[in-house]
Amino acid sequence: MFMERLDKILSSQGVGSRKEAGILIRRGLVHVNGILATRPETKTDPERDQITIEGKPLRFQRHVYLMMNKPAGVVSASRDSREKTVVDLVPPVLSRRDLFPAGRLDRDTTGLLILTDDGELAHRMLSPKKHVYKLYEASVDGPVGAEEIEKFAAGVALEDGTVCLPAGLTVVKQGTAWETLVEIREGKFHQVKKMFLAVGRRVLRLKRVRIGGLELDKTLKEGECRELTKEELALIFQGENRRFCEKKNSNGQI
Ligand code: URA
Repeated sequence: MFMERLDKILSSQGVGSRKEAGILIRRGLVHVNGILATRPETKTDPERDQITIEGKPLRFQRHVYLMMNKPAGVVSASRDSREKTVVDLVPPVLSRRDLFPAGRLDRDTTGLLILTDDGELAHRMLSPKKHVYKLYEASVDGPVGAEEIEKFAAGVALEDGTVCLPAGLTVVKQGTAWETLVEIREGKFHQVKKMFLAVGRRVLRLKRVRIGGLELDKTLKEGECRELTKEELALIFQGENRRFCEKKNSNGQI
């Protein structure tokens, strides 16, 4: 049993601030197990007690998990005094007070981003020890072949001497720009861009398309987000999608 103040519970579910939740309670709009609640400090078990607001049941969720298709031009942060953040893009109905992006994408990187208020999940997702691979589509400015692929597979040494964990690199299309897929399980600052720079290539466009076994929902437009299902959440920790890293790439083609 986990008892909490009623105003705190309502506020944690995006109903409004603690003060606003208190006003709803004092106005007689909230019932707990069919009984009118009049005091914001009433201790309640949100997982067991049936809470209603104006007759509508509150669907309590301890944490929220959102998938966003991040657009370019916004920063991966909760709040920023000057710039628009990914949390600013979340519609009020899905938002929570403590929402933050689990991992960062650069301002100009697009694609799959998880937003949550669950610090434990974020830690599990981001720790290299947990082997959660992230897959990126990277457009680069020059040829990618066996040499670059071997270097990625062995662990690229960045300009500052840091050696990355082995990563997967595959060529998808050759043209004016080279379209590649890159799979890493770390999240160093500008990692994919720095890895390419270390092998003499520049990233022109970068998009994250998968985390673990969870793929970006292609129906989400840039800037949109939606809740993850329980099954999708579990997919994050499914490791069988380590296609490129575990496989010997000989010619660089899929
Ligand atoms: N690697 C990068 O260089 N940038 C990102 O946004 C993500 C991975």
